[in-house]
Amino acid sequence: MAEKIDGIGTDELEEGQMRGITVGGQEVLIAKVGGNIYAVENVCPHLKAILSEGTLEGYTVTCPRHGSQFDIRTGENLRWLKGSGLTAGIAKLVKPPRPLRTFKTVIRDNRITIEI
Ligand code: FES
Repeated sequence: MAEKIDGIGTDELEEGQMRGITVGGQEVLIAKVGGNIYAVENVCPHLKAILSEGTLEGYTVTCPRHGSQFDIRTGENLRWLKGSGLTAGIAKLVKPPRPLRTFKTVIRDNRITIEI
């Protein structure tokens, strides 16, 4: 059963911005895009880089370490590792793509609550 955990104030996140928080022992990337709040796991499924230290363009977060990309709305993997060639091909075979876990968010009393 999902647990609702208080995250941050709505005034702590600007449009187009993301940040990492820890709620309920879970590392969560929280972002505001198009006036909506999204929350996904903040640890890259490739080699555990912190995604909120990467970049956010539209709904796409890019991992700072090897460039994998994910849609923050669905967690879908959009690109698994940056680059091509034999090394990248082997890396993709050894560690196949995985989507990000997503979390439901609710805004109440100017606070963002995350369901873990
Ligand atoms: S750790 Fe994120 S792509 Fe490698």
